Amino acid sequence: MNESPTLWWDEDTGSIRYIDQTLLPGEERIAECRTIPRLATAIRRLGIRGAPALGVAGAFGVALAASRCRKKDPVSFLGQVGRDAETLRSTRPTAVNLGWGIDRVLGVIRTAPDTATARARALTEAQQIAAEDTACCHAIGEHGAGLLPDSCTILTHCNAGALACSSWGTALGIVRSAVEAGKQVQVISCETRPLLQGSRLTAWELARDGIPVTAIADAMAASVMRTRTIDAVIVGADRITPDAVFNKIGTYLHAICASRHKIPFYVAAPLSTFDLVHRERDIVIEERGRDEIARIGNRTFLPAGVPVLNPAFDATPLSLVSAIVTENGIVRPPFAPEDLARGRTK
Ligand code: MRU
Repeated sequence: MNESPTLWWDEDTGSIRYIDQTLLPGEERIAECRTIPRLATAIRRLGIRGAPALGVAGAFGVALAASRCRKKDPVSFLGQVGRDAETLRSTRPTAVNLGWGIDRVLGVIRTAPDTATARARALTEAQQIAAEDTACCHAIGEHGAGLLPDSCTILTHCNAGALACSSWGTALGIVRSAVEAGKQVQVISCETRPLLQGSRLTAWELARDGIPVTAIADAMAASVMRTRTIDAVIVGADRITPDAVFNKIGTYLHAICASRHKIPFYVAAPLSTFDLVHRERDIVIEERGRDEIARIGNRTFLPAGVPVLNPAFDATPLSLVSAIVTENGIVRPPFAPEDLARGRTK
C-alpha cells in the first residue's frame, strides 16, 4: 500500500513540497511553495486540500513564514509571522484543521526566547503535526475496520484519503486498514461535482493501491443504495460541531439516502477536526466561484447571466450519523458532549 506523504518540508530548499492535486489523475507532479502567497494560492485552488492536509499545510506554512522572516527584533518577527498566518487562515474558512495547525505552531513560536529558536521550534512542531496526522489516520483505520463485514461494498464521497491527509487517509484509511486485515472491500466513489475529488482523487489513489473502485455520478447514489448492496457509507469531515458534521457538498444527501435505506453512515475524522465550542449555525460555509459550476474544462454549460450557488460544504445533522471514528475509538449516538470530547464512547 502506498504510504508516500502528500506534503512535506524540503530541508534542502527550506520549502514546502506537495502533490499538486489539481493535476491528478492526468499528471502526478510535485510542486513547491517557497513563499506564503504561493502557499495561500495552492490552498485556494485546491492544490493542497482535505481537512487534515490543510492542518499540516497551515503548520508548515507558519514554519515557512518564520524561516523566511528576516526581522531580528522578536516583536516585529512575531508581527510579521502573525500576519502571514492570518493570510493562510483566511484561505479556507470551513475546515477547522487549518486554523488548528496554524495556532499550534504559533503557540510554540510565541514562547520561544529568540527568533532562531522560534524558527527551529516552528519546524519541529510542524513535522510533529504531520507525523501525528499519519498516526491518527492509522488508528482511525484500525478502529473503523472493525465496523466492516469481512466482505463489503463501501460508498464514499469526495476524497478523505491519503491525498487529504499527511498519508493513509481517514475514510479511505478505514478501507486500507480493512484490506490490510484481510477483508474484501470494494468502494463506490461518488464523483463529487463540481471539482470531482471523488473521481479524480479517490478513484486514483484506490486504483494505485489495487483496491477495487467504481466511480458513479453523485446523482446515482440514491438508486445505487436502493438497488445494490451497500454495506456502509463512510465519509470524512471538515469540521464536527456538537450538532453537525460539515463535509463536502453532497454529503448530507448521502446521509439522507443511507438513513432511508438503513445503511450505516460513518464519519471518520481525527480530533483536530472537532470544534466543540461552536454550533452549526455559527459556521461559515465557503462559497466558491461561478466557473466551477458554469464551466467544465474550456466549455461553458450555463447561459451568461444565470447566477449559481456554489457552497463547498454542507452540514449533516448528527441524528443521521451512525458513528464517528476517531484516533481514540468510536463515538456512538447520542454523541454526548463528553464522548465527543474524548473521541470515543466509553
Ligand atoms: O474542498 P475539499 O476538497 O478540501 O473538501 C474536502 C472534503 O470535504 C473532505 O471530505 C474532508 O476534508 C475530509 S478529508 C479527510
